[in-house]
Amino acid sequence: MEQRKTLSVALPKGRLGNQVYNMLEQSGYECPEIREESRKLIFENPERGVRYFQVKPTDVVKYVERGAADVGICGKDILLEYTPSVYELLDLGIGKCRMCVAAPKGWRDDRERTLRVATKFTNIAGNYFAEKGRDIDMIKLHGSIEIAPIVGLSDVIVDIVETGNTLRENNLEVVETVVPISARFIANKAAFQFRTKEIEDMRDALARFVKK
Ligand code: PRP
Repeated sequence: MEQRKTLSVALPKGRLGNQVYNMLEQSGYECPEIREESRKLIFENPERGVRYFQVKPTDVVKYVERGAADVGICGKDILLEYTPSVYELLDLGIGKCRMCVAAPKGWRDDRERTLRVATKFTNIAGNYFAEKGRDIDMIKLHGSIEIAPIVGLSDVIVDIVETGNTLRENNLEVVETVVPISARFIANKAAFQFRTKEIEDMRDALARFVKK
């Protein structure tokens, strides 16, 4: 087989990671070592022309934007929140979920009062309420956001909803959908200029496995 020049790929650890790697494997960019239980974080398969870095989903854009990785895969939520200067080349159609405003069941907005919003996604939430002309008090949290309105830290949350289980189990419900989310294939701008073929080959190979 023709040896490809190695591309460095930033992969998101966690929920999305396995689905992403499955798709890369199907597309001919496998690296079996990645499936072994270990504390390794970098995996390479020179024959297939790939080197994978497993990083936190929010860090994928940092590696790609600064060129430490040529390409990467991350959720649209991360792209909207951090607006990195990268090319978004493909919607992979996996990791589908939606960014929502949620609140305790039966909650009604009182527009006379400033709305207290707890979220990890302060830019997405800020832009969303600014467009609606709604005054908010932003409370930045780093996880388990659903607790905030239950214990009175906030009125609503802006967070990702996938199955809806977390909301249901905490007596919360979706008030509004902000934006649908899915995983995206992204590239460093300079890398795309100089390594167009390898990057487009990877995008095209992945595109064949995108479920419609
Ligand atoms: C995300 C999100 C919700 C949950 C939604 O949390 O913040 O809590 O998934 O999924 P569901 O609708 O299928 O229940 P994650 O597990 O990423 O952890 P976090 O609490 O650190 O945000």
